[in-house]
Amino acid sequence: MKKIPSFLLVFIASTAIAFSQARVVKVLDTHWKFQKGNVEDAFKTNFNDSKWESVSVPHDWAIYGPFDKKNDMQTVAISQNGENTPTVKTGRTGALPHMGTAWYRNTFTLPKEAKGKKVLLLFEGAMSEPQVYLNGKKVGEWAYGYSYFYFDVSQFIQEGDNTLAVKLSNKEFASRWYPGAGLYRKVSVIIKNNESIDQWGQFITTPFISNAVAKVNIKTKASGENTRLVTTIFDAEGHKVSAEESSLRLGKEFDQNIKVENPKLWSPETPYLYKAVAQLYVGNELKDELTTRFGIREIKYEANKGFSLNGKVTKFKGVCLHHDLGPLGAAVNKVALRRQLTILKDMGCNAIRSSHNMPSFEQLELADEMGFLFLAESFDEWVLPKVENGYHRFFDEYAEKDIVNLVQATRNHPSIVMWSSGNEVPDQWGEAGVKRAKWLQEIFHREDPTRPVTVGMDQVKATMESGFGALLDIPGLNYRVHLYDEAFKKFPQGFILGSETASTVSSRGIYKFPVVQEKMKQYPDLQSSSYDLEACSWSNVPDEDFVLQDDKPWVIGEFVWTGFDYLGEPTPYDEIWPSRSSYFGINDLAGLPKDRYYLYRSRWNTKATTLHILPHWNWEGREGQITPVFVYTSYNSAELFINGKSMGVQTKNKNTPQNRYRLMWMDVKYEPGTVKVVAYDDNGKVAEEKEIRTAGKPYQIVLDADRKTITADGEDISFVTVSVVDKNGVPCPTATNQLKFKVSGAGTYRAACNGDATSLELFHKDTMKLFSGKLVVLVKSKTTAGDIKLEVTADGLKSGKLTLTSTK
Ligand code: GAL
Repeated sequence: MKKIPSFLLVFIASTAIAFSQARVVKVLDTHWKFQKGNVEDAFKTNFNDSKWESVSVPHDWAIYGPFDKKNDMQTVAISQNGENTPTVKTGRTGALPHMGTAWYRNTFTLPKEAKGKKVLLLFEGAMSEPQVYLNGKKVGEWAYGYSYFYFDVSQFIQEGDNTLAVKLSNKEFASRWYPGAGLYRKVSVIIKNNESIDQWGQFITTPFISNAVAKVNIKTKASGENTRLVTTIFDAEGHKVSAEESSLRLGKEFDQNIKVENPKLWSPETPYLYKAVAQLYVGNELKDELTTRFGIREIKYEANKGFSLNGKVTKFKGVCLHHDLGPLGAAVNKVALRRQLTILKDMGCNAIRSSHNMPSFEQLELADEMGFLFLAESFDEWVLPKVENGYHRFFDEYAEKDIVNLVQATRNHPSIVMWSSGNEVPDQWGEAGVKRAKWLQEIFHREDPTRPVTVGMDQVKATMESGFGALLDIPGLNYRVHLYDEAFKKFPQGFILGSETASTVSSRGIYKFPVVQEKMKQYPDLQSSSYDLEACSWSNVPDEDFVLQDDKPWVIGEFVWTGFDYLGEPTPYDEIWPSRSSYFGINDLAGLPKDRYYLYRSRWNTKATTLHILPHWNWEGREGQITPVFVYTSYNSAELFINGKSMGVQTKNKNTPQNRYRLMWMDVKYEPGTVKVVAYDDNGKVAEEKEIRTAGKPYQIVLDADRKTITADGEDISFVTVSVVDKNGVPCPTATNQLKFKVSGAGTYRAACNGDATSLELFHKDTMKLFSGKLVVLVKSKTTAGDIKLEVTADGLKSGKLTLTSTK
């Protein structure tokens, strides 16, 4: 690559931006000042913000609490849930203080060479209704908190200090879940020449693929006269693969077709990524350079066959994810996202739906790298409201702009295989809604002709009648398992997607008796049973989806609600305080797997075996009482032993959906001791065994880090699972001890989470109670390398100690 002369460097106390390349991208992550409330004159350059709180961005001002039932308390009837009478919903948006106005300020310094350049301010999301000021002047505003947007601020910049001020306002009654608050995604300054590639102006597709060769089409919009574009493709190892030079432009656009021989295809199993380096020249002077990762892959959706990736029929084994990261709130965090995807990968999950809004860039980068198919969604509302202050306020003015930005900013990610223009929008009813669905779909098609569009539909009958479902590229059904056959017959596409499935509820490590299937079941402790038989009035248990997935070749997959618990929407306890987070997760809010994790894993992970026993075996007081034992396993049959006594062999059968996917011993009577399961292979031979035991009294705290060595960048996090064991090392599944955390050395204590949806303990405080014997502590690195010591203590218990290493 050609070297370009470096310009002057300027460093002062604020964020200094140096020119050493044709294009400079500076992420504004440090030196932010933050103040809650509507502060007069806060946009002005000479405003004194020295007393404001110093924060780094991404930042979520609400996650530090406190929880309060009055925060965004909503007196509503949730019509999507079949409610007619308004009732008071306390934890609907997490009971955290995300409402109100706040200001962020930052100063960045530019050398004089910046004058005359093109300068953009890029926001990857700002919650919400951002108003942006630079050097005392308003440069623009946006509305939807999940959108990516940028402003050309070339005319507002000055040599030296530049003062950026952002005002954010969050209304109450604006969300159905915890939205977070503040500059919760990255903010950057982009400085480039006037002759440069337009923001999000590049579109890479792979229209022709064979074993021998792939054609890579790269459309690049650029500004400036007499430009010449050299695009070079590199493989994942950094070797140059091919290159093309063009000076012909069609309007603003270069259209290059580049050959890649023996292409390595992108898939969830082999997430191979190439890199395209685009260099824009005028004469021999390099004016701009942009590097974009992409994958070579082919997607197809066909009647009766469904979805194929690179010619292979592939079902979506997907989960829906809200954007919050539990104890970290909505502030985007790549390490936490990577941990989520690592957990999901082991479960055999191959797809993510960003419900019900634009995914973070970080999540898409990880999906590309780690191999996940992605359904990128946009809206939860169009024109007809679900909540009083929802997106319907912005739809007419912003819907098109929001979609354009979503598509243009993310369309080069090979992981994205489908767009969604909406989730359960009330506009499913009526003619106007049909027109809106078509209008939105056409915007997606215009911006990206290569991917289909879906809508998650809950009003399936209405959409069959109105033509709404028929016009979509992909008919997505949310729940409604009883309507799949009818929808398949009525709709013309020849396949159905389970765009949202299950919504089974459970609390990690909590089991209720008697063991029966229930809808909207409530218990006095505000928990749900982990026998995984409880769902909502509109939803179902996982097994019913599995039947459809297995028996109907035209069902192209499912996206389970949800992969992880999230803040807000504490159904079935929407009206009961102090529930403040969801029970829907396959994993809890701390990222700890619930039993359901193993049910999905037993089906989805086809590379490793699964053998998991539930419930735990500490039932003092239940001696002699019926305590059913379930085994979630990839084997077809197994034998259960209680204290060495056989309870018989169970084999999966088609009697009921549960019998087909779970092994269940319904008549077991509890006696303390051991529960052992012996799994048999299809020849009746012993294949694997597992045993759990009744634990004695809590004795010692045990620490287990997901990563023992982390990077000394001040950002990296080790997630340490804390549990309590008895004298013999047996985990105590019902322990609720109050723990205290201390971190010393090259790291800091960041947060803790126990997964209890009713806990009002604050995540950032250095103490928390165990829930079902466990919790997770997040330890963050400093910028200096060295040992990090974590000590966890509790009254009456032997403490737990762990040394992590932080390296440069
Ligand atoms: C769906 C909705 C989700 C969530 C879920 C809970 O209807 O799309 O956002 O509310 O129900 O079951």
